[in-house]
Amino acid sequence: MKKSTVSPITVLFVVATILISYYSDVSSAESDPDPTPAPWPHQFHSILFVNFNGSLSLIDLWYDWTNGRNFNIIQDQLGELLYDLEWNNGTVFRYTLDGDKKKCSSALIDVGILRPN
Ligand SMILES: *[C@@H]1O[C@H](CO)[C@@H](O)[C@H](O)[C@H]1NC(C)=O
Ligand SMILES: *[C@@H]1O[C@H](CO)[C@@H](O)[C@H](O)[C@H]1NC(C)=O
Repeated sequence: MKKSTVSPITVLFVVATILISYYSDVSSAESDPDPTPAPWPHQFHSILFVNFNGSLSLIDLWYDWTNGRNFNIIQDQLGELLYDLEWNNGTVFRYTLDGDKKKCSSALIDVGILRPN
């Protein structure tokens, strides 16, 4: 029976070829021009899974730059459903509708909603 062996030179050649093709891909990626970001839509609906330092929540985000407002419907894991409205004039209004313990609060934060630019 013929014994098949791969010489160390062949192994070195294959490894060198892989490394050269890897580094030539990296260097050609570096010379590509910066990608152009897609335009930020002025209105959209998005569903976000958020892990804030281990505190998990599912957020329904309704972004509406055209009307200067943002609506977050926030479901904390094992927690209550929180409605969070934000306007570009800086007002934030938060409320819950669960059970008997309905709560609401408002605040004035000077930042408004995320600008498209
Ligand atoms: C994140 O959680 C760790 C552990 O509970 C705590 O020490 C840390 O202060 C938290 N960081 C923030 C930004 O809340
Ligand atoms: C901001 O706009 C909202 C919605 O029109 C309104 O309810 C709120 O009173 C306004 N806040 C201020 C500080 O004008």
